[in-house]
Amino acid sequence: MKCIKREIIFLLLICIVSSVQAQTWEQMNSTKKEAIKHFNEDKFGLFIHWGIYSLWGGMYKGQKIDDIVSPEPNDACWVQARARIPRVEYQQLMKQFDPVKFNANEYVALIKEAGMKYVVITSKHHDGFALWDSKVSDFDMGSTPSKRNLVKELYEACQRQGVDFGVYYSHNIDWNDAHDCNIKTYCDVTGEVWPEPADFKGKKRRPMGANLWDPSPNTFDEYLVNKAYPQVKELLEMFPNMKFMWYDFAHFLSKDQSFKFYQLVYKLNPNVIVTDRVGHDLGDFNIPGDNKIPNPEDMGGKHWETVGTFNNSWGYKEYDKDFKSPYELIYWITAIASRGGNYMLNIGPKGDGSIPEESVKNLKEIGKWMSVNGKAIYGTKQWKVSREGEDTQKMLGTGHRATHGFTSNFTTSDFWFTTKGNKVYAIALERGKEALIKSFAGEEIKEVKLLGHSKKLKWKQTAEGLSIVLPKNKDSQIGYAIEVTLVSSL
Ligand code: GLC
Repeated sequence: MKCIKREIIFLLLICIVSSVQAQTWEQMNSTKKEAIKHFNEDKFGLFIHWGIYSLWGGMYKGQKIDDIVSPEPNDACWVQARARIPRVEYQQLMKQFDPVKFNANEYVALIKEAGMKYVVITSKHHDGFALWDSKVSDFDMGSTPSKRNLVKELYEACQRQGVDFGVYYSHNIDWNDAHDCNIKTYCDVTGEVWPEPADFKGKKRRPMGANLWDPSPNTFDEYLVNKAYPQVKELLEMFPNMKFMWYDFAHFLSKDQSFKFYQLVYKLNPNVIVTDRVGHDLGDFNIPGDNKIPNPEDMGGKHWETVGTFNNSWGYKEYDKDFKSPYELIYWITAIASRGGNYMLNIGPKGDGSIPEESVKNLKEIGKWMSVNGKAIYGTKQWKVSREGEDTQKMLGTGHRATHGFTSNFTTSDFWFTTKGNKVYAIALERGKEALIKSFAGEEIKEVKLLGHSKKLKWKQTAEGLSIVLPKNKDSQIGYAIEVTLVSSL
């Protein structure tokens, strides 16, 4: 009898264990609703692209990478691939990587001052260099002069100062250790254009990202087992309060491989949310494309985050001075929030750990704006109307922004809307003496306030819409935000 009981208990245990292991993506994803909601409410974060490539600032042997390969403004993180630098030569960079100016507390203080609620740092970018002292690779901070664990320093400063933390991890592309990054398993090499991989949806693509100039001698599977999976595990164990796993670029992964990366995160910390760039539509949230403001309807019902460069490169590029101005950044934050998304803006620190001064200056300016108008952004959702005015500004990606610039000609009749409970926020970038907000025509309004202004406003509801007399803009702030309390919530 005792024996039967024991067998039943044993069988039950096996069932429990295997049901945990056999959880479907839907089951795992469905437990993350709270984490996604919290992320959605954060709205604005900082992305950090930093690594040994930062030492070169987009140069290689005295030449700009844009002069080595064209077209596109080349991302400085991609120098190794663009210049086809042999692995052993590139590895030497780590011996010079000694970021004496990196101070995690100062970084996090700046994040807070900018009004950002979270940060994601490149723990390992496509070059394969780990920004911490990894147990499974010597291509890491442990091999640099200082041996500092930069990711951990940032994590700890975030914990102290109350900022949400996540890591970027390039899981498919690793030019140092992932052989050819799996491309040959999926593609048939025919010159520059490769036929579409069998189980990868999408168009024909260039072998962009694959290491075809000096692949590591091991197989891709060995890379997964000996480096990628163990490193993901190390990161999750090192940072128990991590919020995001920002996988990037899964063009040459099979569905099983993507699933394994998703599952690994879930097993170690079920609260961590994962980017769709894990591959095969297995993310918890979507990235519409770099520097792209999407149509929310195209986001497959998932929450989304636009990621944006400060200039036109993710990594530090010493000659790219096309920094987004505070005005343009407020446009990005506002336009994205009005469509319900998050905005994660990038900085590319220099090799010594200092942040380009244009980024610091503009982040501080944004912080001033957010401290007055943040109520119209944080925790908000899309209203029934996102935008009033003619939308001539299109943001279609990094290349598009780099070549077209920011061309907008907004007027005092342009508004973006967000909502929270029974409040609707109308945000404008241009300020006149009066405002007429047509989208409020027919709404029953209880109260109208100008954010950052304590005195009563003069306003009236007319057949054309809400008409407001705007007080003088004493601080010459960019634009303004109006808080409209409706009689009933929507
Ligand atoms: C792309 C680039 C990568 C960059 C990322 C940021 O995947 O390959 O360099 O880190 O976009 O979103």
